[in-house]
Amino acid sequence: MHIHPLEKKWIYVVLAVIGILLAAIFYTAIARNIHPPGHIETIDSASLHLSEEFAEDKLGVWTQPDGTIKVILVAARYGFYPRQIQIPAGTQVTFRIASADVLHGIHIPMTNMATMVVPGYVSQVTTTFPKPGEYPMLCNEYCGLGHDHMWSKVTVVAKENWPTASNVQPVGR
Ligand code: CUA
Repeated sequence: MHIHPLEKKWIYVVLAVIGILLAAIFYTAIARNIHPPGHIETIDSASLHLSEEFAEDKLGVWTQPDGTIKVILVAARYGFYPRQIQIPAGTQVTFRIASADVLHGIHIPMTNMATMVVPGYVSQVTTTFPKPGEYPMLCNEYCGLGHDHMWSKVTVVAKENWPTASNVQPVGR
């Protein structure tokens, strides 16, 4: 089969582009730990307030017996509840988020914390924040007129300052 030299060049160009894209996928997945959440768990979004885990008094930051952190959040038009959370740096943090109404997204810029929050499902992301600081937690799926204002504040405190008297967290579970 004869392939025109120009056509051959384009085949190489296309193969190179595919190679670059695959390299980018593997680089972000392996080196930067960015990948789609694989967790599947269903929940009745209409009765979150009655659920064992997402009832109002269960929301927030919990220290696990093994020292890791669990954050239970509800996403609802237009906010993440609780509105402010504090977590320690350099510690494994597992976020569990459920929507009380429509599709939301949750994204902490400059970190690998990002997932959709689909009604009827529990979204789960485990990550570690290396640096202390203040981070916004934004909704990145259009969810209605108040979408632009749907954000909360995450304060990451240095590990040695955790816990302090001023940020008494519920412990246990
Ligand atoms: Cu919630 Cu946009």
